[in-house]
Amino acid sequence: MNNRLSYGVLINGAGGKMGQTLIRLIHQQPQLGLQVAATRNAAEQVTADFDIIIDFSTPQGAQEAFSLAQSHQKPFLTGTTNLPEAFLQQMQHETKIPVFFAPNVSLSVYFFTQLAQEAARMYRGYGIHLHEIHHIHKKDAPSGTAKKLAEAVCLPASEVTYERMGETVGTHSLRFTSPLDEISLTHKALNRDLFAQSALEIAQWLVTCPAGFYTMSDYAKFKLKEVHS
Ligand SMILES: NC(=O)c1ccc[n+]([C@@H]2O[C@H](COP(=O)([O-])OP(=O)(O)OC[C@H]3O[C@@H](n4cnc5c(N)ncnc54)[C@H](OP(=O)(O)O)[C@@H]3O)[C@@H](O)[C@H]2O)c1
Repeated sequence: MNNRLSYGVLINGAGGKMGQTLIRLIHQQPQLGLQVAATRNAAEQVTADFDIIIDFSTPQGAQEAFSLAQSHQKPFLTGTTNLPEAFLQQMQHETKIPVFFAPNVSLSVYFFTQLAQEAARMYRGYGIHLHEIHHIHKKDAPSGTAKKLAEAVCLPASEVTYERMGETVGTHSLRFTSPLDEISLTHKALNRDLFAQSALEIAQWLVTCPAGFYTMSDYAKFKLKEVHS
């Protein structure tokens, strides 16, 4: 994909569930090195040079890490959900670095959202139901992924139903119903590695991109081009 042999990563939110999963996977990949594992106040914890910041923390943590990325002129990838609208606008319009944001960084979930959109077009006139299940520690509800899926099938976010159950990584189920039949589409994340591995792959692509704001749709285009070339 590019000529660099290895990239130094700063993980923001390093003590969290995603942070810990990312760190474990980075240690398994020779082309990546963990340069900084920041818990709070990332700016004060920078002890080594790095090539990219990957943030899975909190809205506050994401904003602090974005400022740090800008001051170091390094690419910034965040998967933190429930980000304030003003911050999303700032990342989209005022960035001088490559910035990537997705409420779900899994390419598989991106394709699932495309499938859902296509299904909603085909089953026009059917009732649509979207239900999501996550672990009991999740702070936002409905999930960022559920909001994206709802948007894709033109369902108001207020109609999404949700459950918080045990350690469930993330399940999103869509049902299209008519008086005569019912169609179900479900995506079930079995393991947090699904998101962490995808984030690391996106990071290695992002470091090659010019300044700008990128989403899953940009990354999916790149991946599909790679597959077909
Ligand atoms: N986009 C995706 O595909 C995707 C996938 C999974 C999760 N997520 C999102 O990623 C975020 C993290 O998820 P998680 O499950 O890893 O949550 P988590 O286990 O609660 O981890 C969050 C971590 O961020 C730390 N933190 C709090 N404030 C911070 C700050 N100002 N600066 C740096 N770090 C700070 C927390 O530290 P303390 O414990 O000390 O508070 C905690 O270690 C959530 O928004 C979640 O919805 C997104």
